[in-house]
Formats: sequence, C-alpha cells, structure tokens
Amino acid sequence: MHLRTIFFTAALATTALASLNTSREYQLQSQLKPGQADKKRFDNLWLVASHTGAGLNDAVLYTNKSSGIKGFANDTNITQSNGKPYFNQLFDLGGAFPYDLYIADVNFYAAWEPVRINAGTGAGGFFFNSSGLQWDESPGSKVGQNSFGGWLVCDWWHGVPQLFSKWSYYHLENPSSCADINLIPRYV
Ligand SMILES: *[C@@H]1O[C@H](CO)[C@@H](O)[C@H](O)[C@H]1NC(C)=O
Ligand SMILES: *[C@@H]1O[C@H](CO)[C@@H](O)[C@H](O)[C@H]1NC(C)=O
Ligand SMILES: *[C@@H]1O[C@H](CO)[C@@H](O)[C@H](O)[C@H]1NC(C)=O
Ligand SMILES: *[C@@H]1O[C@H](CO)[C@@H](O)[C@H](O)[C@H]1NC(C)=O
Ligand SMILES: *[C@@H]1O[C@H](CO)[C@@H](O)[C@H](O)[C@H]1NC(C)=O
Repeated sequence: MHLRTIFFTAALATTALASLNTSREYQLQSQLKPGQADKKRFDNLWLVASHTGAGLNDAVLYTNKSSGIKGFANDTNITQSNGKPYFNQLFDLGGAFPYDLYIADVNFYAAWEPVRINAGTGAGGFFFNSSGLQWDESPGSKVGQNSFGGWLVCDWWHGVPQLFSKWSYYHLENPSSCADINLIPRYV
C-alpha cells in the first residue's frame, strides 16, 4: 500500500505536464449478463469514481449518465493473441493528470477484489472484445490462462452499486446483493 502511494506521487510528478490524449473518450456502462432476471437494478449503470482520499477513488456505478466519468485507452506495447495491444484504462476526471483503473489485490484468498480509480498512468492489461472491457492479470500470458473472472457489481460500502473484479478460479455463487456484468464502452 505504501509502495503504491509512493509510486502515485512519482507518477503524478512525471505526468502532470503531459497533455492527455483524450481524442476518443467513452463512458463505461454496465450490461447485466443473462440469467439474472432479479438483478435488473444493476443494468445500464454508469461508471463513477467515488472519492476515498487524495487521488484515490473506489469504482462505483450510478444510474445517471451525466455522472459517468470519461475514460480513454492508452496503448501499451504488449500485444494480445489477436494482434491488438493491451492498454491502460485511464480517465479524465478534469484535472491535469489521468486516473487509472486498478484492480486492488487486497487478499489472495478472496474470490473478488475491489476496483480503484486512482491518480496515475496505471496498471496495464486491459483490452476490449465484443463483451466490453476485459483485463488480463499477466499481459502476454497464454490464452486460457487469464485469471480475470469478469466484473461483479454489489450493493456495498458506499450505499451505491460498487464494482469488483472476480478471479476465474473461484466458482462461488454470487451473494444476493451482487450481479455479474459486462462494462461496455459508449463513445462520447
Ligand atoms: C500514454 O502512453 C504514452 C506511451 O507509453 C506515454 O508517453 C503517455 O504519457 C501516456 N499518456 C498518459 C495520459 O498517460
Ligand atoms: C490518441 O488516441 C487516438 C485514439 O485512441 C489514437 O488514434 C492516436 O494515435 C493517439 N495520438 C497520440 C499522439 O498518441
Ligand atoms: C447522480 O446520481 C447520484 C447518486 O445516485 C447523485 O448523488 C448525483 O447527484 C446525481 N447526479 C446528477 C447530475 O443528477
Ligand atoms: C515494441 O516492442 C518491440 C519488441 O520489444 C520493439 O521492437 C518495438 O520497437 C516496440 N515499439 C514501441 C513503439 O515501443
Ligand atoms: C472476452 O474476453 C473474455 C476474457 O476476459 C472472455 O472470457 C470472453 O469470452 C470474451 N468474449 C468474447 C465475446 O469473445
């Protein structure tokens, strides 16, 4: 945790002057996966950053599109098996520096992890396919060895639906307050 804080501070210093390439921005919208008819309240929500400290946010979802934060992709030089590069999922929250989507590995034995939107240029390993935003914990690893198990949204500690990331190697039933979703980019 402390190491990451130090990293943020260093990252902020080096990126504050770089202008953000926000030429193709999108908002991320939840799409309820099939077979969850009782979870309609988690469908069509918009990704929002909920402030938890200086430069720190939890990823939550609101019903109103106007609150949805604007994201953009910053390609990294690692190519997935389909020939497309992975990217860092960055956000323009209105300041001089970007924020990045980051899966917080808070507990190796937990089946899902909270997702942060913290100041910095981030953790890579993101890509899009027809199911929306995906993540690869180890970019470049063999197809089929990805430990990302999809996005989970839960009524949680902010009083609004909150985003989590599942590990693929657990097969637990979701709590009744959670639903499996895709995150679909909607270009602005
Ligand atoms: C995007 O990536 C490029 C190349 O890695 C880097 O120079 C640039 O600072 C990044 N932009 C942002 C906004 O992080
Ligand atoms: C800015 O982003 C767009 C869309 O992602 C990309 O096509 C373009 O090459 C980028 N420009 C720079 C200078 O990185
Ligand atoms: C959007 O919804 C959130 C919570 O549901 C609320 O706090 C916020 O004020 C709303 N924003 C707008 C612009 O209506
Ligand atoms: C990407 O990586 C390859 C292999 O390491 C290298 O040859 C190439 O120059 C890199 N491209 C950029 C834009 O950094
Ligand atoms: C998109 O990628 C994920 C891996 O994160 C995979 O499980 C899913 O099947 C892919 N969707 C499609 C439509 O290819």
